[in-house]
Amino acid sequence: MPVALITGINGQDGSYLAEELLRLGYDVHGTHRPQSDLGLLSSFRDQLNLHQIDLGCGEEIEQLLTAIQPREVYNLAAQSSVGKSWDEPVETGNITAIGTARLLEAIRQVDKSIRFYQASSSEMFGKVIETPQTELTPFWPRSPYGVAKVYGHFITVNYRESYDMFACSGILFNHESPRRGSAFVTSKIARTVAEIKSGSANELRLGNLQAKRDWGFAGDFVKAMWKMLQADQPRDYVIGTGDVHCVGEFVECAFDYVGLDWRKFVVIDPKFFRPAEVDVVTADPTRAKEDLDWQPKYSFEQIVTMMVEAELQKIQNAQGQTQPSVINNKAA
Ligand code: NAP
Ligand code: GDD
Repeated sequence: MPVALITGINGQDGSYLAEELLRLGYDVHGTHRPQSDLGLLSSFRDQLNLHQIDLGCGEEIEQLLTAIQPREVYNLAAQSSVGKSWDEPVETGNITAIGTARLLEAIRQVDKSIRFYQASSSEMFGKVIETPQTELTPFWPRSPYGVAKVYGHFITVNYRESYDMFACSGILFNHESPRRGSAFVTSKIARTVAEIKSGSANELRLGNLQAKRDWGFAGDFVKAMWKMLQADQPRDYVIGTGDVHCVGEFVECAFDYVGLDWRKFVVIDPKFFRPAEVDVVTADPTRAKEDLDWQPKYSFEQIVTMMVEAELQKIQNAQGQTQPSVINNKAA
């Protein structure tokens, strides 16, 4: 039974990846912080080995690697909110950037043959230099989070080149699901639209509706992480759909799904605008398609409806009802 370690196992991607690795027959270990909410793991927690580690200090990482001897390590833990990174730039650097170096160095000390996945981000492209973005597109990060991810990306490349380690960086574009953290715009839209539909909210306050993102489904994207670590050679990969929509389109699609006119409910609030914005990112995932035979399965419309439906279902469950409200969602 191969052993895998996932840092940030209780997050959106960690929970999907853990399920995928269990399905593939792995002995799955994961790290979380003492204060972490483990709700996303609740239905399969008994099949996991959980360990408490804060990547901000991480003195225990070497001990853990020595004890469990993983074949693969997936580094998903990060301060992952772009917006919050302006409020907490030092903490973001400590976890999202230096946390990656802590983990790589521990792997180098314990067992250089461990295969390593780094969760890089399309935020590194920031003020994009070319469109669409490939593995060769230069970076121009626009947030403390993006800057920290550039460090994480290049320290991964550097360990690969310096120590001949199997270290890969997946440059993932935005990916969403009903498990998305509540602060991200898609989750906020889906939740608030469901609340408006059920009468418990009457407005949706947002910032920049013009920003464009290449949104995919998280369940599809974690499969690419695993494929990267099964390849013959370690390489970096852009993972995205190539299909771009603005925040306003996400809003419109979500309100359309519940039969409401978004213009009656959306309020533009300056407090949700960022000091510097990533206007548009567009993936060219050709390398992943050719090398890894990876492609996304879910469309933009399917993702929006899946998320709104899941929020409607949560509200109905809380009210003690059982029937799905609009359609029967099987994807989440
Ligand atoms: P997420 O749901 O926010 O999960 C992040 C995880 O990191 C959580 O388990 C969190 O634990 C953990 N974490 C935060 N600070 C930590 C610390 N000091 N020590 C240890 N763990 C800590 O994010 P996600 O959407 O699953 O994303 C997974 C990774 O992919 C992140 O690195 C993110 O930056 C990157 N990424 C995400 C996307 C996307 O669109 N989702 C795109 C590109 C890259 P707590 O619950 O305790 O906070
Ligand atoms: N969060 C949020 N809240 N964003 C808003 C809001 C709002 O009320 N209103 C408009 N937006 C806009 C943001 O300005 C941004 O342009 C866009 O919605 C998406 O914001 P987020 O959902 O917070 O995601 P992100 O693109 O900044 O970052 C996510 O994707 C990255 C990959 O490119 C995160 O998952 C990162 O961890 C990830 O690396």
